[in-house]
This record gives sequence, structure tokens and C-alpha cells, in this order.
Amino acid sequence: MDGQGKIEGDVAGRPVAGVVGDVRIFDTTLRDGEQSPGISLNLKEKVEIAEQLARLGVDVIEAGFPINGPGEVEAVKAIAERVRGPIITGLARSEAADIDIAAEAVAAAERARIHTFIATSEIHMSAKLRMTPDEVLAAAVGGVERARRHVDDVEFSTEDGTRSDLEFVAKVFKATVRAGATTLNFPDTVGYALPEEYGEMLRFLIDEVDEDVIWSVHTHDDLGLAVANALAGIAAGARQVEVAVNGIGERAGNCSLEEIVMAMRTRTSGSLDSNVNSREIARTSRMVSMLTGYPVPPNKAIVGANAFAHEAGIHQHGVMVERTTYEIMDPVDVGLEGSKIVLGKHSGRHAFSKALEDLGFHLGKEDVQHAFARFKELADRKIRITDIDLEAIAADEIASEADEFEMISLAVTGGTHSAPTATIRLKHGDEEIDESAIGDGMIDAACGAIQRATGVTARLESFNSSSVTGGIDALGDVTVVLVSEEGDGEPTRRATGRGVSTDVVEASARAYLSAVNRLIRLKARSTETVG
Ligand code: KIV
Ligand code: ZN
Repeated sequence: MDGQGKIEGDVAGRPVAGVVGDVRIFDTTLRDGEQSPGISLNLKEKVEIAEQLARLGVDVIEAGFPINGPGEVEAVKAIAERVRGPIITGLARSEAADIDIAAEAVAAAERARIHTFIATSEIHMSAKLRMTPDEVLAAAVGGVERARRHVDDVEFSTEDGTRSDLEFVAKVFKATVRAGATTLNFPDTVGYALPEEYGEMLRFLIDEVDEDVIWSVHTHDDLGLAVANALAGIAAGARQVEVAVNGIGERAGNCSLEEIVMAMRTRTSGSLDSNVNSREIARTSRMVSMLTGYPVPPNKAIVGANAFAHEAGIHQHGVMVERTTYEIMDPVDVGLEGSKIVLGKHSGRHAFSKALEDLGFHLGKEDVQHAFARFKELADRKIRITDIDLEAIAADEIASEADEFEMISLAVTGGTHSAPTATIRLKHGDEEIDESAIGDGMIDAACGAIQRATGVTARLESFNSSSVTGGIDALGDVTVVLVSEEGDGEPTRRATGRGVSTDVVEASARAYLSAVNRLIRLKARSTETVG
């Protein structure tokens, strides 16, 4: 058989006969996750997330898609050089240029992998690739062979696998194993499969290919079934699952890391488990949400604000008497033990930077200095500074790395009988720019002033505000989505932005400016080419 131990039966709470070993967590937050509309992470943000993923205990980090441009290559290289523990991989189509650049990007990793793929469905082969099945087979084999010349660890995926002819998929998998693939990944690229069906398909492939490899599942959430499908795949024998933090990813997203990890831990009595330190889950989720600008919905399983909240009186009473009446997991086990007060007004720079280090941040000297100034401002307005406040300040600092425009100051005036006016001062290189605007409200005025100062016109597609912690003096947390309106044949670009401050107008202006900076970055990226 497949040498990994085959599962019989399902994973619904019963210890399953014949199961051996762990399920590897392959995290693609920085690749498939980053393909979500509007996300454009800078190098520092990517490295920080990768460091946190290592701390969380994932087995593989897919750090990017290097052929996408020099910025992507640089980020994958930085992760490969700095992040220790997990295998670091880069994605590559089955093409020589893709594979060579991916190999170069992951070369410095402690353990490097190349992940190469090609589509196998009729629709993708004929409409997208314009290749015959024989040509696809040859390209897949050629890609794996080339990747093996660079590294020993090669993963191969059949894109749109679930809508492909399974006999053909099996043939391609067999040939790629002979060419040197060590992990075979069967993606449900468009989130079309149903759980039972996906499990059956994988069972068929495992039996048909009959090789000693790691089988992997990669599922998308178009029908809300990504986690269910991944579980079915694991029950069928997969020992690697491809996931993204908070389930972000193309369209409706990928299988959510936190959901699959906790489903295995909660329902398989330890017979199927990962190496993830679940107590790092909440922090990882917050970091990814803050740096991507993608808020976590309150009702999101495991990490949503309401995931462990009890509203009905009967439930509240039950939980007070015995927690397990209405809680199937302990919030402490996913790192939701509540925010801890770590610093106050009189804390010095040393205590501040030590607290950041303890939280797992890796800020340079200059960034710490900058973040410390923000902390001092905050400490003047807020008595108790918690670990979650510090995370928000650090994330803001990391996010503004390499930003074209930086906010120096903002002043707003207005009231029931006077026109809301905002004056902003931005730093642009060595220059300082001052601009003012009048708006429908103070937030509108602040955004108008930013538009004038940066020269970037964009439509505000969405605006969300919440608070980082509870309490009247809590940090306001604003996320926005901007859509570029450049015309002149320029493609439409969408960017998220996030800002935090005790003042909601300032938080909004910071979020708006962060999205403007991302639009600028997205435009620059789209003109990058790989030589
Ligand atoms: O969804 C998909 O098919 C992918 C592959 C590149 C693995 O992301
Ligand atoms: Zn995918």
C-alpha cells in the first residue's frame, strides 16, 4: 500500500483502525492566501507571518510563486534564509523558467522543496493550456525531472484534479513519481467536489498509483466544503493537507488551517493529528488578519470573536455550571485565554521591545523606535496596554514598511454646525506634503486630504470598523477596501488597508493611506518581470 497506513471508516470521533502517524500541515497563506483580491503583502509582512507559522508548528510553508516577479523572489529568498523549522517551498508551473527561479528562491532553506503543477482537466488543457493530454503528461514529467535536478523534495499537483479524467490523473501521477516526485497533491481547484466523492477519488488514486509517496489534499471553499473535503481526503489516506490561516485564498478561499487542525484534534481521539501548537492559533489568526487587512468574521469557527461567546441565558448558565455543556473545545487550547496586560504608561523602551520579542515579533532597531513612539502616544490615551494592543501596533509598523507615503500628522475639525475639515501631513521620501479637504464627515474629509496629497484617486468599496479589545479606551480597528480609478487602459486594482488608533478618524485615515500604499505597490508589481 501507500506506506502511510490507510484509514478505514471515517474520522467521526472513532479511533480508526490502522492509522499511523501525523498529518503534515502545508501552509499556503503566503501563496494561495496572498492571491485573495486586494492582498499585497510586503517582504517584512511575509517574513513575519512565516516566522509565526514556524512558531505555530506547520510542517511546510509555501512562501510564494517566484515567477510572479522579483519582489516575490526576494520574499521567498528572505523566508528561506531566515525561517528555520518548516520545509520552505515555492510554486512553479511545469515550465523550465518557473522551476529554475523557484529553485533559486528556496535554495537557502534548511529544507527546500519545489512544488510544480499542471492542469489535467479537459477544460483547462484545451481552453487554457491549449495542449493535448500527451503534451501535458510530457510537461509534467519534464517539470518534475527538472525540479529534481535542483532538490530532492518535489511535490507535484494536478490542477483542477477533481474535474479531470481520473484514469488520466493516475497516469500522470505514476509518471511523475517515476520522474522523482515525492508528494502527490490532488487539488479541488474550483471547490466543486462533495466530501464523499472527493474521498472516493483519492482512494481510487492511492490504489491505482500504488507508490510509497505522501498524498496531499488541496481544497477550495466555493461550496463551503473545503474543510469537509480535506477531512474526507485525510480519511482516504492523505497525510498532507494544504491550508491557509483564516481560510483566505482564491475566491472563497482555501481549507482553513485552524478548522482542520482543531477538527482532527477534537474528533479523532489523537489518531489523526498535526504538529501544530494550537495555543498559537489565535495569535496567528490575528496577525494574518491585521497584515492582510482581511477581517475575521465574528461567527468564524475557532477564531471568530463569537466562536466561544454564549448569548442565550440557558447556554450561559450551562457553561457557568459546566463548560463542556456548550463548548466542545477549550478556548485556552486555541490561544483565546483573553488579553494580558503587559505594559503601561511608565514602561520603558527595553520593556517594550522585550514584550514584542516575547510576542514573537522580529522588528529591527529603527522599527522598534518607531513602534515605541506609537506605544507612548497610546499609553497617554489608554491606561492598560495589552498583548493584543501591542500586536496591533507592531503589525501597523510592519505593514508600513517600504510605504511610499507615511502619515506624520492629522488634524480634523467639525461639529454639528461646521463643515468637517481635515489637514494631513505626509512624508514622501525626503519631502513633506500638506493638504486639506472638506468632506461629508470627518472621515470623508481625512480621506479626501489623503487623495489630494498622494494624487491617488480610488473608490472606497468597503469600510469596517471594530475595536481591538473591549473598553471605552480600546484601539479602534478600521479596514477598508479601495478600488483604483485610473482609467487610461490601466486595469482595475483592489487593495485592502488597515489602521489602528484610539481615535476612529485617525484609524480610518491610517487604513485609507495603507490601502493607497498597497495600490501603488500593486501597480509597481504588475510591471515587474522576471528575467
Ligand atoms: O488550487 C489549485 O489547484 C492550486 C494549485 C497550484 C495547487 O492552488
Ligand atoms: Zn489553490
